[in-house]
Amino acid sequence: MYQNEITKEVQEYRKSTYPVHPIILNRWSPRAMTGESLSDEELFPLFEAARWAPSSYNNQHWRFLYAHRNTSEFDLFFNLLVEANKKWTKNASVLLVIISYNLFDRNQKPAPTHSFDTGAAWQNLALEGSARGLVVHGMQGFDYEQAKKVLEIPDDYTVEAMAAIGKKASKEVLDPELAEKEKPSSRKDLKEIIIKGKFKK
Ligand SMILES: Cc1cc2nc3c(=O)[nH]c(=O)nc-3n(C[C@H](O)[C@H](O)[C@H](O)COP(=O)(O)O)c2cc1C
Repeated sequence: MYQNEITKEVQEYRKSTYPVHPIILNRWSPRAMTGESLSDEELFPLFEAARWAPSSYNNQHWRFLYAHRNTSEFDLFFNLLVEANKKWTKNASVLLVIISYNLFDRNQKPAPTHSFDTGAAWQNLALEGSARGLVVHGMQGFDYEQAKKVLEIPDDYTVEAMAAIGKKASKEVLDPELAEKEKPSSRKDLKEIIIKGKFKK
């Protein structure tokens, strides 16, 4: 079931300076999806992967609101998106709104890492989906205020991001300018993101 080798399309675009597990390089954010629906057996393992993320005091601040295509809930989620994201997410099987609980369960005090921990859970979800050959694509192009209102999210939760999940399609289903961008991206050099000791530019 799992893709255990670096895929051909990824090999073409991504060179790592040091060897890393293929699951890391193979995850990227395609936009082309078929519009087919996903069963709970196909979708829920992604939430299961998210569930096992680490968090401060094991508080598990993450919550995933989800909506299946062709439901009124999907329309609610879809209408939050900017036009540029609507163009390709119209073929998503599932839309997510990822939120985090701002406080610790144990004392209701602010939890400094609620977003950080939720990011870890999101990455688990994306890696599991990608390893299963699904499209999992994060989005910040949506109305955060409106999301809070429409989805009745309480004030002690933070809206973090949305994501589209679906079955992969060939890039021809996309508008030409998006089809052009449908390939794995590269990254900054390692030396640009690590700093030995004190901060320096
Ligand atoms: C939190 C987050 C928000 C993003 N927002 C958008 C978005 O609104 N629209 C979009 O097309 N892609 C969005 N992306 C995808 C990024 O552009 C993509 O992850 C980045 O270019 C790296 O490429 P890769 O995921 O293919 O490795 C988002 C990704 C993340 C993690």
